[in-house]
Amino acid sequence: MKALVVGNGGREHALAWTLLQSPNVEKVFCTPGNGGTAIAPYCQNLPIKVDDFAAIANAVESNQIDLVVVGPELPLSLGITDYLQQRNILVFGPNRESAQIEASKSWAKDLMKEADIPTAESETFTAAEAAISYINQQGAPIVVKADGLAAGKGVIVATTVAEARTAVEDLFAQGFSKLVVEEFLVGEEVSVLALTDGVTIIPLLPAQDHKRIGEGDTGKNTGGMGAYAPAPIASTAIMQQIEQEILQPTINTLQKRGIDYRGVLYAGLMITPERKAKILEFNCRFGDPETQAVLPLLETPLDSLLIACAEQKLAQHPSIKWKDGTAVCVVAAAGGYPDAYEKGKVITGIDTAEEKGAIVFHAGTKLEDSKVVTNGGRVLGVTTVGKDFSSAIAQMYPAIESIQFEKMYYRRDIGHRIR
Ligand code: AMP
Ligand code: GLY
Repeated sequence: MKALVVGNGGREHALAWTLLQSPNVEKVFCTPGNGGTAIAPYCQNLPIKVDDFAAIANAVESNQIDLVVVGPELPLSLGITDYLQQRNILVFGPNRESAQIEASKSWAKDLMKEADIPTAESETFTAAEAAISYINQQGAPIVVKADGLAAGKGVIVATTVAEARTAVEDLFAQGFSKLVVEEFLVGEEVSVLALTDGVTIIPLLPAQDHKRIGEGDTGKNTGGMGAYAPAPIASTAIMQQIEQEILQPTINTLQKRGIDYRGVLYAGLMITPERKAKILEFNCRFGDPETQAVLPLLETPLDSLLIACAEQKLAQHPSIKWKDGTAVCVVAAAGGYPDAYEKGKVITGIDTAEEKGAIVFHAGTKLEDSKVVTNGGRVLGVTTVGKDFSSAIAQMYPAIESIQFEKMYYRRDIGHRIR
């Protein structure tokens, strides 16, 4: 079969790479893809934007592609799935209505309340005054969330009431018409990406992401600087609680509302000191860089799982098999990220890193005059797999140190919670 992956990040390179591990997959197209998918064997980039649905559908028809896998939230929230389905194309990724679970925090909070799943107490506001008086009542720390896609900049964890008030004013001034103000939860975060066909839901291995730019989880929030899987914090008992008290009730409630959610349901969870999982947020897509740590451990062919979701046959699919061991992904970023950074820097040493056993997933890269150059903030995701975390991480740093580009930056403490 032939597949098409929509997107151009590290997650999309990992999806393409994993699809190509399957004996069933002969070729993967990427729209638009990156430098990694440009040079990978059996992979081909098509220069089509992620929101040009008609051009994507035309490419699917002219290349006789069997399955479309959508990476990012933007095309999902714009209805790429609905559009492609109308053109009789098999697509993995939730439809527009379902994608609100990520695109609207207030919609997601209503759903959580209706499903009666453990989450932070919250209220939704359409005016600053009411939000501020609620914040004054509740005190700090408190969390303010913009209701809409905000590229990771819509959540402010305020340590003081003054900071929360400023966040409310700033977000309304930026044009958001609704905000969620939420109880601050303490604990350790974990990401559970689950596959669903709208009826059955199956979690993948739990992963832990490192969202801050600086070591020791300091500094600004980023898209994610590294991840590892499986995350031992999500013990078997906690995974059971997540399935029974969070994932399945969410799918049941969506079904009750007549919403046919097929794709990834990404649960961002807090494991509280009482060892209870509470949902912080849902995303309607694979996580990045969690995917680069989770998928290299997958033994079951990814295409068959994604097709089972798209065709609503997940209950009949044989259970998912995993490789033993732990995978770690460390992101190499452009110096300056998540603020301003430069592009166009030549990257060397990827082959050497691969010879040392790493899988190098490209994110912000492109091919220019047959050289791979930087083209984004998060440039590469380097993944190593070992029999346990220590053996995976022992392989990581010699491999990533072989890679060079001007002002390359990466965290040396990925996995610090389990070291
Ligand atoms: P979200 O996009 O809702 O996951 O929020 C982004 C990040 O903000 C999360 O990964 C957490 O680190 C933090 N966060 C969100 N909600 C809360 C909460 N209720 N309590 C503590 N931290 C939170
Ligand atoms: N790594 C966080 C995310 O994908 O949203």
